[in-house]
Amino acid sequence: MDEHNIKKQLKQVLSPALYAHCAGVSSTAGVLATSLGCDVSKARVAGWLHDCAREWPSAKLLHHAQTNSIEVDAITLRSPVILHAPIGALLAQQWGVTDTDILAAIRTHTLGTPDMTLLAQIIYLADKIEPNRQYPCVDELRQLAKLDFHQALIQTTAHTISFILHKQQAIHPVSLSYWNWLINK
Ligand SMILES: [Fe+2]
Ligand SMILES: [Fe+2]
Repeated sequence: MDEHNIKKQLKQVLSPALYAHCAGVSSTAGVLATSLGCDVSKARVAGWLHDCAREWPSAKLLHHAQTNSIEVDAITLRSPVILHAPIGALLAQQWGVTDTDILAAIRTHTLGTPDMTLLAQIIYLADKIEPNRQYPCVDELRQLAKLDFHQALIQTTAHTISFILHKQQAIHPVSLSYWNWLINK
């Protein structure tokens, strides 16, 4: 599936706001991929597709997790929205995406994971700094992303995790493993 057809498909299934977010992630990922020597067309496609299941209701996500043998741990059961990443990868596959790098980037964009590929890290960061995102330190993170990709990833992940801490919610163990991998690499 090429970018043109992916956009056509997404236009039909996403709300205008989510479509705009995905467009922002795609273009930000393309820019990051260019500067980091990563495959630009894969980054753009993964950016477009990363949230393809983001608007599925919790019951539908949980049902699909069950029927596709995707593990639902206690934290995921309390926050089924986490499942939009692995189920988004499945959906993209059903739409004809076969590239394992792209599918892995979609699968890991929410929690992160240790040993993430460069493409997956680009999607993780682009998701947090694309032009439609608005939160207090986002401009600093956008600037940092141009200067030091790894530091930008660390600071963005720290921001995301502390946001969850401040809401007094549980940090998924996969996110913690990703964080520990990120700061030690
Ligand atoms: Fe997402
Ligand atoms: Fe997103």
